[in-house]
Amino acid sequence: MSDYVDIHTHILPAIDDGPRTMAESVELARTLVSAGFDTVVATPHTGEGQSEPALILERLQELQVELKRLGIPLEVLPGAEHHIEPATLERLRRGEILTLNNSRHLLLELPFFQPLPIYTMQLISDLSAAGYVPVIPHPERATALLEKPQLIFELYRAGALFQVTWGALTGKLGPEANRLVKAMLAANLAHFFATDAHHAGTRLLQLEKAAALLEQEKGSAFVTEVLSTRPRRLITGRLLELPPAEAPPERGAIKTSFISRFRRTIGH
Ligand SMILES: [Fe+2]
Repeated sequence: MSDYVDIHTHILPAIDDGPRTMAESVELARTLVSAGFDTVVATPHTGEGQSEPALILERLQELQVELKRLGIPLEVLPGAEHHIEPATLERLRRGEILTLNNSRHLLLELPFFQPLPIYTMQLISDLSAAGYVPVIPHPERATALLEKPQLIFELYRAGALFQVTWGALTGKLGPEANRLVKAMLAANLAHFFATDAHHAGTRLLQLEKAAALLEQEKGSAFVTEVLSTRPRRLITGRLLELPPAEAPPERGAIKTSFISRFRRTIGH
């Protein structure tokens, strides 16, 4: 099968912490094709002081020309992984932020280590009211969500969807990330899966193993759904058919709190 779609990759050359050169981008493209992808969205980091759409589109075109020249069958589409900022909606409206292949969906990244910015819920509601669908990439890397999984459900109710990283299923990203992703799966809150590939290396190698684990957990129809059907509908602007989500486990079920670690240390 080679009809997989990845909505989150860092494949463009010399633009963020992905490939430094065109040759490295091509190597990543070849790896994605051999893993079964025929379409990926290029999602360079954007946000304060980072790449603007014009540069992303320029690099994208350069890569598309090179892939065509080399006969590599990978369609690369425009997008961005935008770090949350208060002016996100205004900037979207001004065309300063790229959505996923010009759809109403955008990758909206939350901070990894800090609490959620105080305006987060309001921004998600405002985006939703304006017809946008923020897709939160790698929730398993956001400490605020690991510490309080209920926030994931609140963000969902405000209008967000979630994209988890394949590697989180295998435990590659740590036991806490793994527990969170499993809880999200059980609650129908893992809407999309992506490689978040930066280089032709370890993250992609997890795909086969992760897909096998996902099949055990949710069945093969679900694996096809998230590798192909669902992301393809997203990038072509078609309606997504998502099952309703439930609230994930209570606070503390995912992340070992400082207090319990401390208690363990002193022998309680
Ligand atoms: Fe990313």
